[in-house]
Amino acid sequence: MTLAIDGPAASGKSVVGREVARRLGIRFLDTGAMYRAITLASIQQGVAADDACKLSSLAACADNGDDITPRLRLAEVDASVSAVSAVSGVRTALVAQQRAIASDGSIVMCGRDIGTVVLPDASVKVFLTASAEVRAARRAAEMQQRQETFDTRQVLAALQRRDKIDRERDDSPLRPAADALVICSDHLTIEEVVCQILAEVSQC
Ligand code: DC
Repeated sequence: MTLAIDGPAASGKSVVGREVARRLGIRFLDTGAMYRAITLASIQQGVAADDACKLSSLAACADNGDDITPRLRLAEVDASVSAVSAVSGVRTALVAQQRAIASDGSIVMCGRDIGTVVLPDASVKVFLTASAEVRAARRAAEMQQRQETFDTRQVLAALQRRDKIDRERDDSPLRPAADALVICSDHLTIEEVVCQILAEVSQC
């Protein structure tokens, strides 16, 4: 069984996807972390966010020996990950890795293009969305919990900037697959979203 969960930044895909996978007893992959890992490597190696050639080689040769998880959410990574993930060569390398991972067995995969490009034959496709204001408030709450300083207007502006790049890029733009269940989580709890997805799974 393959589940594709796509949606914009801070729509709750990973928290929901991880919980759905846990309840189904199957694997979970947050593909955003893969794009973040390439972005982090590009920053560490001084590769510019518009150097398509070097970014594509980085993605093709990515070898994450170290645990870089805590650094994937750094502000510098947030600032350039949408530009890096718009590079076709980066996408080609990562999509191949994602399909290889999916071929090993049942999985919940979340991202921007899972239902449209990576796994177009997924058993269940969900497009999880929420208004920019609700997503910014959730992101600000996470930052507050991590005791980071932030300005709510800047958090909203940064999300809107990333949404625009993700939606308007030429290669695999963010959009719902024609056969996706679209869920707007503005007025839903995580548990309610998880239950809607599990109900969809039980029908397939
Ligand atoms: O879900 P996230 O915020 O961690 O994703 C980080 C960036 O990665 C996002 O701005 C767009 C990109 N991304 C993508 O282009 N395709 C995916 N399947 C997953 C993420």
